[in-house]
Amino acid sequence: MSTFPVEQIRADFPILAERIRNKPLIYFDNAATCHKPQAVIDSLVHVYSHEYANVHRGVHTLSQRTSEKFELAREKVQHFINAASDKEIIFVRGATEAINLVAQTFGKANFKAGDEILISAMEHHANIVPWQMLCQETGAILKVLPMDHQGELILAELDALLTDKTKLFAITQMSNALGTVNPVKQLIAQAHAKNIPVLVDAAQSTPHMLIDVQDLECDFLVFSGHKLYAPSGIGVLYGKQKILEAMPPYQGGGDMIRKVTFTETDYNSLPYKFEAGTPSIADTIALGTAIDYIQHIGMANIAAYEAELLEYATEQAQAINGLRIIGTAKEKGAILSFTLDRIHPHDIGTMLDSLGIAIRAGHHCAMPVMDFFEVPATARASFAMYNTKAEIDVLMQGIQSLIEVFG
Ligand code: ALA
Repeated sequence: MSTFPVEQIRADFPILAERIRNKPLIYFDNAATCHKPQAVIDSLVHVYSHEYANVHRGVHTLSQRTSEKFELAREKVQHFINAASDKEIIFVRGATEAINLVAQTFGKANFKAGDEILISAMEHHANIVPWQMLCQETGAILKVLPMDHQGELILAELDALLTDKTKLFAITQMSNALGTVNPVKQLIAQAHAKNIPVLVDAAQSTPHMLIDVQDLECDFLVFSGHKLYAPSGIGVLYGKQKILEAMPPYQGGGDMIRKVTFTETDYNSLPYKFEAGTPSIADTIALGTAIDYIQHIGMANIAAYEAELLEYATEQAQAINGLRIIGTAKEKGAILSFTLDRIHPHDIGTMLDSLGIAIRAGHHCAMPVMDFFEVPATARASFAMYNTKAEIDVLMQGIQSLIEVFG
């Protein structure tokens, strides 16, 4: 039995005391977004109550105080993913904006007609559509590394897909629809052997595993705060300093400039060159608080506990007649996607909601994954550090009763 202090952690998340349809909330939609500990909520209130002004602009004390806290959050992110410098941490709205930023700057500056961008068959739309848009603009071609029916990448095909035309390999570290954890370190090494840069979509992986960008040697890595116990509206683009320095800016406006005249503009240094406009100040500072919270519990402890939850849920799900798990890779994060014979996933979602259980039902912004598995949608239970085996028992009983009544 785990000694993970889950009850203590649950007490830190006020929303877990909510009742839904007169039942205790069981929240299994963490891959969509997860809840916030009181420390993060307090951090937002504290900033707006005591430390709020615009950043990097004021000579006045309050602005300086806010700017210090804002830059401290950048350092926390830097250490969280072990980046070599805080200049490599760009604050954006979320993983989606980070990928769009890379496509519109790095991509537009470097890709031409006939060049290739490689993604995988299990990408979220956010790691497909920005590249398709770029291909339409530049004439570059989007290639796809296939997967098998366990939801594992077919690695034997990678070498042939990394060609002298490949300008970028953009790959998820953990699939939001299947839970598959990809061996990104090995994939990056393989791409780098051919001098191909790699972008890692870590939107799903950051809440569940230790990330070390220097060890991975990835060129870009993106993630969203809202899946990491932080507020929505704040995310991170990590890029190697040399690459970011060579990239043109993304949006124009305040903070990304050094000098502006009507004829030309000198751009600011990193990381500000990519941060036009007033940022999401309080959310950024609260992201730093979320990182403190996670580090206090310990990512290795979180990962071990969530692996236990996934194993427990998978064993029970496998024993249910008529339940098909979608995504059975050997390496998986805490996501259980499934379908039931004769019951549409949306109906599963609605019926579980009547028991107070929140899951996601749909295509999970990964329609090509649904097409591959020939399902219109899946039901997805995704776990976080505050979930318990007792909650999984309620989920499984709920599924059993659905099958008995409607299956
Ligand atoms: N990408 C999020 C999900 O998987 C929204 O649900």
